[in-house]
Amino acid sequence: MSKVLVLPGDGIGPEIIAEAIKVLETINTLSDQSIAVDTGLVGGAAYDEHGHPLPQETLAKAKDCDAVLLGAVGGRKWESLDIAVRPEKGLLGLRAELGLFANLRPALLYPQLADASSLKPELVSGLDMMIVRELTGGIYFGQPRGVRTLDNGEREGFNTLVYSESEIKRIGHIAFETAQRRGGRLCSVDKANVLECTELWREVMASLASDYPDVSLSHMYVDNAAMQLVREPKQFDVIVTTNMFGDILSDCAAMLTGSIGMLPSASLDANGKGLYEPIHGSAPDIAGQNIANPLATILSVALMLRCTFGQAAAADMIERAINAVLDDGLRTVDIMSAGMTQVSTSVMGDAVVAKLKAA
Ligand code: IPM
Ligand code: MG
Repeated sequence: MSKVLVLPGDGIGPEIIAEAIKVLETINTLSDQSIAVDTGLVGGAAYDEHGHPLPQETLAKAKDCDAVLLGAVGGRKWESLDIAVRPEKGLLGLRAELGLFANLRPALLYPQLADASSLKPELVSGLDMMIVRELTGGIYFGQPRGVRTLDNGEREGFNTLVYSESEIKRIGHIAFETAQRRGGRLCSVDKANVLECTELWREVMASLASDYPDVSLSHMYVDNAAMQLVREPKQFDVIVTTNMFGDILSDCAAMLTGSIGMLPSASLDANGKGLYEPIHGSAPDIAGQNIANPLATILSVALMLRCTFGQAAAADMIERAINAVLDDGLRTVDIMSAGMTQVSTSVMGDAVVAKLKAA
């Protein structure tokens, strides 16, 4: 039987995950293929209980299941902890231990929310792009790293940006394949004018292009890419980039759509196993108030059904249900606008479930 490990995590994580579980359970009753749900602790919640953000038990469960559905990790409460046991390490550890090297982050504008973007509606209407972020390499994991004390007594911090050719190739193939399934345009983002490591990145990306004659490859420096994202975002179809550049650009791309609360993401290994999570963080400032937007997490369930479980029809159903709820004018506070009906986290989840049952 298919199995998913659910890790609510911290902050708004438990609230949004609760709504996603309602949706998954509804899908289970509507389809003949049922997915079993196990739960575990990660992040600050795991630290509080076990003294570590990624306890052995959680890791073992994660290795044993077909997919992981995660809420969010982190919060002020744990900010002063040693970096080795901070909540974020739970997420980074899962990515590394499960070999989840390919992070897919769509930025899709829902027409119902065009007004919620901080950019003019004509710049973002119809926006549909995908960022493919390398997730288990680069400066996030490079060695050596740390803070050392120099002979003169001054401290010095250092991290290493490193990519092997094979790491660049495997994320490159995923990106080209993604572009093939979409609009056929791939933009590789680097800083090849300054960083040797990304000069190699550019070279290796270019060397893959001949395998994909139906994809047009372009290259862009990361500073320009950041500017182009807010100047003319619709020029992009698929972006492929390094771990850290992808972290930064994906937040920017997400905000173009008006709410980071609407965007799911998938982190995949070489065999289709994946960790699915909303792009937004744990939002500790609004945790426990039942006002967070659960739609990105519910959309993460759809992405999981599509990418890991091959249940495209069920994924379509969820996406249609969300569109229908938006059409009805229901909005959580982050996407609220004049004339719409503001609802809580749980009312939003219930509304999606009701649409699914009615479909
Ligand atoms: C993200 C987050 C993480 C990252 C943090 C929480 C470690 O910002 O998934 O984008 O930097 O990758
Ligand atoms: Mg980030």
